[in-house]
Amino acid sequence: MDIHKTIFLMAILFIYSHHTNSLLLGLYQDQDSDIMLEKTSNHFSEHRIDDMDEMEDDSWAMVQKSGNQFVVNDQPFYVNGFNTYWLMVLAADESTRGKVTEVFRQASAVGLTVCRTWAFNDGQWRALQKKPSVYDEDVFKALDFVVSEAKKFKIRLILSLINNWGGYGGKPQYVKWGNEAGLNLTNEDDFFSHPTLRSYYQSHTVLNRVNTVSNMTYKDDPTIFAWELMNEPRCPSDPSGDKLQDFMGLQHLTRFNIIQILMLNKWELISSETIKFLVLILLLISPSISDAHISFTKSWMQSHIDDAEQYLGMPVVFSEFGVSAKDQGYNISFRDTLISTVYNTVLDSVRKGGSGGGSLLWQVFPDGTEYMDDGYAIVLSKSPSTSNIISRHSTRLTLFNSLCKWKCHWGCKKKHGFQYHDEL
Ligand SMILES: *[C@@H]1O[C@H](CO)[C@@H](O)[C@H](O)[C@H]1NC(C)=O
Ligand SMILES: *[C@@H]1O[C@H](CO)[C@@H](O)[C@H](O)[C@H]1NC(C)=O
Ligand SMILES: *[C@@H]1O[C@H](CO)[C@@H](O)[C@H](O)[C@H]1NC(C)=O
Repeated sequence: MDIHKTIFLMAILFIYSHHTNSLLLGLYQDQDSDIMLEKTSNHFSEHRIDDMDEMEDDSWAMVQKSGNQFVVNDQPFYVNGFNTYWLMVLAADESTRGKVTEVFRQASAVGLTVCRTWAFNDGQWRALQKKPSVYDEDVFKALDFVVSEAKKFKIRLILSLINNWGGYGGKPQYVKWGNEAGLNLTNEDDFFSHPTLRSYYQSHTVLNRVNTVSNMTYKDDPTIFAWELMNEPRCPSDPSGDKLQDFMGLQHLTRFNIIQILMLNKWELISSETIKFLVLILLLISPSISDAHISFTKSWMQSHIDDAEQYLGMPVVFSEFGVSAKDQGYNISFRDTLISTVYNTVLDSVRKGGSGGGSLLWQVFPDGTEYMDDGYAIVLSKSPSTSNIISRHSTRLTLFNSLCKWKCHWGCKKKHGFQYHDEL
């Protein structure tokens, strides 16, 4: 994550399918268990895992996109998520693998259901891809573990396929590989356009991986909610956005009937016919914290939710948001206020059946991993007030996910005897 001199970072994803009603994303949902959850209010706890074991495998259904919302089994699915980018790398070592389980356990205990994480590590320490299309089987097994472990905790994954930045390899590593193969590339952005680098990327075979724990092929596994083409893509050498558009239009993912996620570094509305992917928008805010950021966050989110609905007919997911403890003026209450603001803005949209598809905290860490903290890490066990906010939001979203059918819109809630209270 590009965290330099930012207070927080926010990203938007738009989701699109070639076939409007086709299956896009993975989501697990079981009506009975959700209703039970609703009755147990916000007491999210580990008994959910036991329920999970008793469930038939077919209760894991893929999430679809229907209009401007995500749905599964004809019910809405709002993303209630978090980021923990390093899961695969820590899973690759027996001594740290337990941290993966720990973060899933803690996140599911506060009701979080989607995790965004890296399915890439190119040419670096503990690389998944040591060279183009040359994989380290042990690291792949670590990723298998992450996927199967997530399912145990009813957590869906958004797997990112490459980094825009140099962390874990990224664009610079692909360029380096190209040059090692005899090319003369000088610009990182050649990643987007050079046929050799594009072929490296297209050959990256994560989607066809057969999980050694579950025997499931990744692209068929509903645990994987979505594939993200790249973490925070930018193509500064082409401000028109065309190069990036072209890159994101690569067809190799869609032939697996899997959603494309496109992330752009600028807000650009293209006619909805040409948008075939999910778009991300990144927002950077000045280096010192102030209350003005709260109202800005709200109106910024609202305007993008409105645009997603009005112009694109797509759900929008805010894929990274948080506050860095390293920034000037930081305090926990500011962080809590910002998180509440994001949650409430999403909920305002949810209540109206709008395009607000959910949000993902940047970022949740288990105890003992603070050495990797970029300032944004939330250790749930040490952050009671933040954990409470997350739990309350989970309770609210679970109600929407479980009680109302997609088609009945939220106007139906009274019919179901369901009263929504703001103070819930
Ligand atoms: C590599 O490209 C640079 C600029 O694009 C050029 O100046 C240089 O001569 C090239 N080197 C080779 C070996 O082709
Ligand atoms: C996976 O497949 C192998 C070989 O087909 C089989 O031996 C193994 O029991 C399977 N494992 C699971 C978890 O289904
Ligand atoms: C927390 O930080 C915000 C923004 O800097 C500030 O307005 C607020 O007064 C601070 N609150 C406390 C309790 O220090």
